[in-house]
Amino acid sequence: MDNVIQTAGLVRSFDDIEAVRGVDLEVKPGEIYGFLGPNGAGKSTVVKMLTTLLTPTAGTATVLGHDVVTGANEIRLRIGAALQEASLDDKQSGREILQLQGSLYGLTKAEVAQRIDELSTLIEFDAIDRWIREYSGGMKRRLDLAASLMHNPDLLFLDEPTTGLDPQSRARVWEEVRALNSELGTTIFLTTQYLEEADELADRVGIINAGKIVGEGTPDELKRSVGADVIQVRLLSTDEPAIEALQQLDVVDKVERGPRSLLISVSNGAASVSPVAVQLDAIGAEVAELTLRTPTLDDVFLELTGDRIEVNQ
Ligand SMILES: Nc1ncnc2c1ncn2[C@@H]1O[C@H](COP(=O)(O)OP(=O)(O)OP(=O)(O)O)[C@@H](O)[C@H]1O
Ligand SMILES: [Mg+2]
Repeated sequence: MDNVIQTAGLVRSFDDIEAVRGVDLEVKPGEIYGFLGPNGAGKSTVVKMLTTLLTPTAGTATVLGHDVVTGANEIRLRIGAALQEASLDDKQSGREILQLQGSLYGLTKAEVAQRIDELSTLIEFDAIDRWIREYSGGMKRRLDLAASLMHNPDLLFLDEPTTGLDPQSRARVWEEVRALNSELGTTIFLTTQYLEEADELADRVGIINAGKIVGEGTPDELKRSVGADVIQVRLLSTDEPAIEALQQLDVVDKVERGPRSLLISVSNGAASVSPVAVQLDAIGAEVAELTLRTPTLDDVFLELTGDRIEVNQ
């Protein structure tokens, strides 16, 4: 089957800001595609073009076989979207929101009731008849997710579905997303600034930075592409002499400062721990902690952009 999403050279400018600078995407049926990038990378702008809320400045995009400009109506009927700025009316109950959404898509009252029933096995509504203003952030997100699913879309867009949620609510949203994908086969295009989320959920990840895709692959492929293992060292003594001494070792590719520790890239982790420890000992560095880890998507991001993703909630 054809790609569910296909874009070529997609560009969107706002006056003199080029928010999206030539994005090529291919999303296959049944995939969970993770679109990972920091604040302001252009994630929401891409989602808005694909959901037909913004027109591209240049390039082309087809969604479910329809062009986003000429086939916007067809696309809207078949996609669901839970966008970053969910606007739920405080003075409505969860059930009213779902009923409204159902009627917008032309479902009958009986169909709406049946759909709410079906969705409640997938998404646990703990307060469907309470007012939205009594909902927590996590409950609102899950209701918004349910609303986006009322008409049984083939393709679902989730723009930062867990930003600002506590770890427990985040885990629940992850479960819902996985269930939707595996039980109903819904293709999911999800944006996130959380490396962990992309790693956990996505079959494939596209990394976007400053409006461009800088890397793409399965989480494993991306991590393997970095190659290096990382030895993380927390020192009680000053960093400077340790950095200098470590850079002299053959087994060390690169040393940089992390938030609380030194990150030492090495090609063979197991064989490098000992020389690193010996070298630190030789210069009298006081080591509080030394751990070896395989690359994370954060290391991939660093490799591709020269920066680490900083999450501002
Ligand atoms: N309506 C708009 N008018 C002007 N500039 C905009 C508009 N929408 C987005 N931008 C700019 O385009 C760039 C990309 O924004 P976008 O919202 O797509 O980023 P994002 O990756 O979704 O970020 P976040 O993680 O913070 O949601 C930013 O520089 C932003 O300021
Ligand atoms: Mg955004």
